[in-house]
Amino acid sequence: MNLLILGSGGREHALAWKLAQSPRAERVWVAPGNAGTAQDAENVPIAEGDAPALVKFAKENAVGLTVVGPEAPLAAGVVDAFQHEGLRIFGPSRAAAELEASKVFCKDLLRKADVPSADYQTFTDPRRALAFLQQREDAPIVVKADGLAAGKGVIVCAGRDEALDALNLMVNQRAFGDAANRIVIEERLHGQEASVLAVTDGKTILTLQPAQDHKPAHDGDTGPNTGGMGAYCPAPLVDDEKLHWIEGHVLVPTIHAMYRARRPFCGVLYAGLMMTHQGPKVLEFNVRFGDPECQPLLMRLKTDLLDVLDAAVDGKLDQLAPLEWDPRPAVCVVMASEGYPGGYTKGHVIRGLGDAAKVADCKVFHAGTKLVEGAVVTAGGRVLGITALGDNIARAKLQAYTAVKCIRWPGAWCRKDIADKAMMP
Ligand code: AMP
Ligand code: GLY
Repeated sequence: MNLLILGSGGREHALAWKLAQSPRAERVWVAPGNAGTAQDAENVPIAEGDAPALVKFAKENAVGLTVVGPEAPLAAGVVDAFQHEGLRIFGPSRAAAELEASKVFCKDLLRKADVPSADYQTFTDPRRALAFLQQREDAPIVVKADGLAAGKGVIVCAGRDEALDALNLMVNQRAFGDAANRIVIEERLHGQEASVLAVTDGKTILTLQPAQDHKPAHDGDTGPNTGGMGAYCPAPLVDDEKLHWIEGHVLVPTIHAMYRARRPFCGVLYAGLMMTHQGPKVLEFNVRFGDPECQPLLMRLKTDLLDVLDAAVDGKLDQLAPLEWDPRPAVCVVMASEGYPGGYTKGHVIRGLGDAAKVADCKVFHAGTKLVEGAVVTAGGRVLGITALGDNIARAKLQAYTAVKCIRWPGAWCRKDIADKAMMP
């Protein structure tokens, strides 16, 4: 079967690498891809958001399954466009992708489905939001823009002054544009975060191993938020009992509620959770694989991913054998451009990739890279996701950082403490 993957980040490289290993995969294309996907698959110079051109490509090249990486094309309806033409595609419809694209929709659905989450209020009139903050006691609170804002539309505030600043940023400075036309103000939760992802066809849920992301830029979870500076899987914080609980109290009721809302959900349902003293609570849902969580997850998945995604698209997940996992944990360390998550320069030649590739049980997934005259150069903020397996999490970490040390370009940096939380008593 010919396959097409949409996107150009580390997640998409991991998807292409894994899907290309399927005995049933013939040609594997990535649109638009990066320098890494050009090695493990073939790149197609079509933007991930250009639905008409993607549909045309899929038809002309007998693509049997398209897999969508990022949220933006999902929220824009790429799945609907493919299905309208009778093409098979893995991912939620535009209506189902609202679960990530609108925090108001998500919070309202969670409340109706009785899924544990932070208390909240939504505001369409900024004056009411202002009055609410002024009348409320001065305590920690979180201000969120309703729409997609590249992970930046959430501001966690220590108290009222910060919350008023956040509101000002969204309403008066319009920092997130129309994404902040509606605002959610919610209770601040405390605890450690975990990501629990599941593949679902809208009826059956296949829960994946739990993972943990590292969103803040610097060691010890300090500095500004990023798309994710590293991840590991499994997350010992979520043991089997908790995973089972999350499946029953978060994933299943959400999928049922989506079905009842006439927005059946097919794709990856990603629950971002806070493990609070009162139990796990949902911080957000994403409607796709996480980046970088996807990289360690797929390093560990032994089952043919094409079989899983195919079964999901055909509504036959109930017939699939249980997933098989490599028992060894995996750690992914993201190497980034100097200045990220703020401004950064591009075009630096990346050296040492050959040496890194020789490190055992390790795979260098590309994110912001491209090929220029035969050289791999930086082309984004998050540049590489170096992912390694190890007999235990410490060994996996060591192995990943051994490969990191081989790689260099001017200004390259990474967090040094990825997976340390998994090793704390
Ligand atoms: P979200 O995009 O909703 O996951 O928010 C991004 C990040 O903001 C999360 O990973 C959390 O670190 C933080 N966050 C979101 N909501 C809350 C909350 N209610 N309490 C504390 N932190 C939160
Ligand atoms: N790693 C967080 C995300 O993919 O949204």
